[in-house]
Amino acid sequence: MKVLITAGPTYERIDPVRFIGNYSSGKMGLALAAECVRRGMEVSLVLGPVSIDHEVLHNPNVKLTRVESAAEMFDATVAQFAGCNAALLCAAVADFTPVACADKKIKREGDELVIRLKPTQDIAAHLGSMKTERQVLAGFALETNDENLNAHKKLEKKNFDFIVLNSLNDEGAGFRYDTNKITIIDRKEQTTFPLLSKQECAVNIIDHLCHLLKTC
Ligand code: C5P
Repeated sequence: MKVLITAGPTYERIDPVRFIGNYSSGKMGLALAAECVRRGMEVSLVLGPVSIDHEVLHNPNVKLTRVESAAEMFDATVAQFAGCNAALLCAAVADFTPVACADKKIKREGDELVIRLKPTQDIAAHLGSMKTERQVLAGFALETNDENLNAHKKLEKKNFDFIVLNSLNDEGAGFRYDTNKITIIDRKEQTTFPLLSKQECAVNIIDHLCHLLKTC
């Protein structure tokens, strides 16, 4: 059994020293990778720029690909998906990237600075269109409002088999925390769990993945 996992943020370069990023720590994705390895699975981990170290990064059953931008994450993920039984898309991928990266550091001049952005490619939607009947595809939704409705929309739009919802409105859930409060939503049902460590959340998520892999 081979599982592809994306984790961490992406950085979109503005100039040689600056980027647009987000607060994703990569902790949830690394917890998922560790749980897959614990169950004897092989993991292809495509990891954005995070500074934390974790023993799973050094595990011989983990093939690690380090990337920086959404475009690099797209290329690495799309190249590996066909060889995997499942993909868990845990990365907080930038939705927009600068149209151009300045070749020199941008100087402090004028009253305002306008940076033009263009949309990045949606890795999840692309894998959703590539997915075969034997593969399971799952994503995450971190929402601030209309959580359930937005998660259901993403499940359909990206052709996920299940989606893990976490809300920024729940205390102790989301970016940087060691805990998370998740709801697993698939096409038939949804289950809400209490606030748990990211490790315990990973056990519940991989349980669900294994259940779906058996039925496909
Ligand atoms: O950003 P959004 O809330 O739409 O992310 C939902 C899911 O889609 C997450 O699983 C995320 O990893 C994935 N995603 C992606 N490529 C993008 C944007 C989001 O794979 N460009």
